Amino acid sequence: MSFRHGSAAIAILAMLGGVAMLAPPVAAQDDVANSKHNMSTRSGLTNYGEVCVYCHTPHGGQTQNAPLWNRNFSTATYQMYNNSYSSTIDMTVDASPTGVSLACLSCHDGTVGLDVIINRPNAVPSLTPSGNTMPTEDAANQFFANLGVDLRNDHPISVAYSTAADPAFNPVTSGKVNGELPLYLGKVQCGTCHNPHNTTNSPFLRKSNGGSALCKTCHIK
Ligand code: HEC
Ligand code: HEC
Ligand code: HEC
Ligand code: HEC
Repeated sequence: MSFRHGSAAIAILAMLGGVAMLAPPVAAQDDVANSKHNMSTRSGLTNYGEVCVYCHTPHGGQTQNAPLWNRNFSTATYQMYNNSYSSTIDMTVDASPTGVSLACLSCHDGTVGLDVIINRPNAVPSLTPSGNTMPTEDAANQFFANLGVDLRNDHPISVAYSTAADPAFNPVTSGKVNGELPLYLGKVQCGTCHNPHNTTNSPFLRKSNGGSALCKTCHIK
């Protein structure tokens, strides 16, 4: 007796019906509203009455680095974590941040107002931004959300991932390191380790770093 693929799959699913209920829970859904990325609930900022608008707009946003991006990018000059800083860096690091990292840094370098957006909602056209920026890094109080423009004390970003340049790294499958962490045009960017919409693994991590599992997804150490 032979099955077409479709009916075979359905038959197997039917047999496994009870087992599927015991499968491990999938990661919780994205939920920006209940995260630190909801600027509308942050004191000191202008509340436009929306959640996504601080980062995205349906019309008139940026055409680069992040989708429908409602923010201007910083014009700062950055110091990169590269091989002129660390002689053991073997991969190519861009001269300044690129791609989605620029979108993150449009708040996290502390130079652009958190509520300064390109297209304000039509419902509140008269509201103006406070212009307040990310509070200054404060090592004594373990506050590092303001990375500043000297990125040499931050994990390297805008790095062209290459196991040929350094074999102590796991391979890439389907554009993701170890099939898990997404590269952007082959590069490690902020979004490789973080998902800005999801708090399942605080702080916005793509997977838990328990036992340094996130680090070891890339580094063979
Ligand atoms: C704090 C900034 C920020 C906020 C707020 C935010 N996003 Fe995003 N969003 C981003 C960034 C950065 C990216 C690009 C991520 C990437 O390329 O990995 C993105 C990507 C996306 C994408 C495309 C990729 C994907 O994950 O599907 C969609 C769709 C999206 N956002 C929708 C939303 C919606 C809807 C909201 C509000 C409920 C929202 N975002 C709030 C920063 C934000
Ligand atoms: C619109 C401004 C804005 C953008 C854009 C933005 N963030 Fe944030 N982010 C914030 C604010 C505000 C906080 C909260 C800082 C604090 O603790 O007071 C934050 C917090 C975080 C935290 C710490 C979360 C925690 O639980 O402590 C991480 C990690 C983070 N952001 C990563 C990113 C990454 C990665 C991107 C780009 C993909 C990004 N952010 C884009 C404003 C932004
Ligand atoms: C290689 C992975 C990786 C990359 C790339 C990365 N991060 Fe992180 N980030 C982490 C991990 C892991 C933590 C949690 C550290 C901890 O718990 O002390 C973290 C923590 C943070 C925090 C919270 C800091 C604190 O302790 O208060 C912020 C904000 C943040 N990242 C933003 C960014 C931004 C913006 C970028 C890009 C410029 C970026 N990250 C790139 C792995 C990464
Ligand atoms: C997405 C993959 C990825 C993840 C996840 C990751 N790293 Fe890296 N890391 C890299 C790459 C790529 C480099 C640059 C290596 C090179 O050029 O030789 C790097 C560089 C470093 C360096 C600098 C090495 C030097 O020679 O100066 C350190 C230290 C480091 N990572 C530690 C960590 C730690 C700790 C974690 C977890 C919190 C982590 N990494 C997570 C990919 C990753």
